[in-house]
Amino acid sequence: MTKPYVYVTRRVPEEALTPLRDFAEIHMWPEEEVPVSREELIKQAKKADALYTMLSDKVDAELMREAPNLKVVANLAVGYDNIDVNEATKRNIAVCNTPDVLSDTTADLTFALLMATGRRIVESAEYIKKGYWKNWGPLLLAGTDIHHKTIGIVGMGRIGTAVAKRATGFDMEILYHNRSRKEDVEKQLGATYASFDQLIEMSDYIVCLAPLTEETRDLFTEDVFKRMKSSAIFINASRGAVVDEEALEKAIVEKEIAGAGLDVFREEPIGEDHALLKHDNVVALPHIGSSSVETRYEMAKLVSRNIVHVLQGKEPEAIVNQEVIYKE
Ligand code: DGY
Repeated sequence: MTKPYVYVTRRVPEEALTPLRDFAEIHMWPEEEVPVSREELIKQAKKADALYTMLSDKVDAELMREAPNLKVVANLAVGYDNIDVNEATKRNIAVCNTPDVLSDTTADLTFALLMATGRRIVESAEYIKKGYWKNWGPLLLAGTDIHHKTIGIVGMGRIGTAVAKRATGFDMEILYHNRSRKEDVEKQLGATYASFDQLIEMSDYIVCLAPLTEETRDLFTEDVFKRMKSSAIFINASRGAVVDEEALEKAIVEKEIAGAGLDVFREEPIGEDHALLKHDNVVALPHIGSSSVETRYEMAKLVSRNIVHVLQGKEPEAIVNQEVIYKE
């Protein structure tokens, strides 16, 4: 019997592919940092029963039309805005992701970014490396406190909840905005539900962890930044397209907010000439939210298991369009 054809769009550790090895014929793009070209991806999709994808691969209707055998697209990410889920569902293609295994790691990074921005850690590290440190000064590189401040979390999913948990250790007041109320989080962590407008006006740290959807695209506009406190710090660890980046830069230049910590950008990767990088009060990271060695291995193994399960007709651990698996 011929084995299913699985195409892996980036070089991932061999160990992560173990669940797939005996079961499938695996072909892998050989590069770790250079993404597969669109042309090659379409060529491979024509033969593939499964695609093992990265968040930078666009899996759209055009690609799926070319993939008559495709049964599963398994993304190495919790976010799946790079995949046209409606189109996949229409074609009975399962879309899988990697929730849970990355929540704590991403929350750690989000909180680190918040602290780095608030306490000017990157700027201070650069200051000393460049040899500028000549004297101690009462207000030398003074940042803003984190403890006892108000954090406003937009998107209280698993990662948002894990960030809220960390905020309790800093005695922060926790506001959140989410599509639905989270009474368990309110009870356990003392978080308070707020409308989006209340949250952006009242918070000292506004942290976006909402997934990118049609409702959240361009959520943070010029007007939204204007309504934040001038001392507010904006943190984004979800997707760049939730933010109007020109409006954010304007808010930084015009001192409408005090700073921003960004792990994600509208068009990734960004170059060193990106406008937001000019500002000392912007801390920018190259989309490393879930990037710890332990977690990336766990995510990579989960992707393999998701593929095996779908191809075996079993329920995968993490499926986005459940209706596909149970469709009669
Ligand atoms: C995800 O999993 O969606 C994250 O953005 C990856 O770091």
